[in-house]
Amino acid sequence: MNKIELKPGIYYVGVVDWNLRNFHGYSIHKGTTYNAYLIIDEKIALIDTVKAPFAKELLDRISEIVDPADIDYLISNHVEMDHSGAIPVVMQKATNAVLITSAPSGLKGLKAHYGDNFNFKEVKAGDSLSLGKRSLSFVGTPMLHWPDNMVTYCPEEKILFSNDAFGQHFTSSKHFDDEVSLPQVMNDVQGYYANILMPFGAQANKALEILDKLEIDMIAPSHGVIWRSHVKEVLEAYHRYADGETDDTALVIFDSMWHSTEAMAHSIAEGFDKRSTKVQLLDLKENELSDIITEVLTARYLVVGSPTLNNNLLPNVAALLSYLRGLQPKGKKGFAFGSYGWGGQSIGQVNQALEELGIEIIMEPIRINYIPSKEQLNDLENKVASL
Ligand code: FEO
Repeated sequence: MNKIELKPGIYYVGVVDWNLRNFHGYSIHKGTTYNAYLIIDEKIALIDTVKAPFAKELLDRISEIVDPADIDYLISNHVEMDHSGAIPVVMQKATNAVLITSAPSGLKGLKAHYGDNFNFKEVKAGDSLSLGKRSLSFVGTPMLHWPDNMVTYCPEEKILFSNDAFGQHFTSSKHFDDEVSLPQVMNDVQGYYANILMPFGAQANKALEILDKLEIDMIAPSHGVIWRSHVKEVLEAYHRYADGETDDTALVIFDSMWHSTEAMAHSIAEGFDKRSTKVQLLDLKENELSDIITEVLTARYLVVGSPTLNNNLLPNVAALLSYLRGLQPKGKKGFAFGSYGWGGQSIGQVNQALEELGIEIIMEPIRINYIPSKEQLNDLENKVASL
């Protein structure tokens, strides 16, 4: 195995999960990595572990550098199992290690997952731990995205071990941001934030306020590439996301039964194009929800269409609205549309769901009976163009 050094004595010992395509319901296209880091000093510290099935690979990587029995501290920044799953296996080898976790939620979470048979040490925001020449200090980042989350900062090396924050579901045999395509990775940063962190903008802003005061040369997250050349860019992106900044983009998201709602979606898209708003037409039958959500994060307009099936929404549209309810997008404008045969309830249901999401409704729901005529489609296009 190739040894990957962040700085002298600080190693990446994580694993690559190349073929994962579903991350607890979030569809990903390139797999992911579970990054763990080993610091060799007078004391030896392992920061985070990996998902349980990869425990042996983690131990093999550590063993290339040091005997796992010599680990003094295992720092668990986050209880979720993609980072904590291998803790029991590591602790079986590292019999003298102290397991460091956040107080009180980290301790509670680790005990609930793995029992209380470890030598735990709870830390709070501002606490620090000396490793010898280096030290580690802990910054609480609660609800980014679990109550227990914290990040670990090494001031002597100016490295932030950020766990989920600044991560990406991205895989490569290369592990640094300047060894891969930056636009591709930034798109995965956006996807990760959108699908996992979108509801927590206020908490992200609080964390960024603290992190902005640190001198950071490198951000070592627990998924994807390590930031050493584009730290500024990823921090700026997080500020924009946390502030809910949008750009002049419209998403026209729909499902259709016999192409009438689809025809309306095309006219709406033409209308946005006429007013020079960048537009994306997203058929729910063809696009993964997670990819749509990635675009939702920065789009200004969300326009959602559904025909009526059994007095209700089409299931794909219901799933979108349910996913959005959890993610609570901020600062959006939009409206509902759809074709119908008789009841036409779905269009009002979409409108109500958008209102409940706090989306500013900029047009009354557009309902067209059966197949829209050319005139109706032109009218719709012009109405949107003059918004
Ligand atoms: Fe990557 Fe919240 O775990």
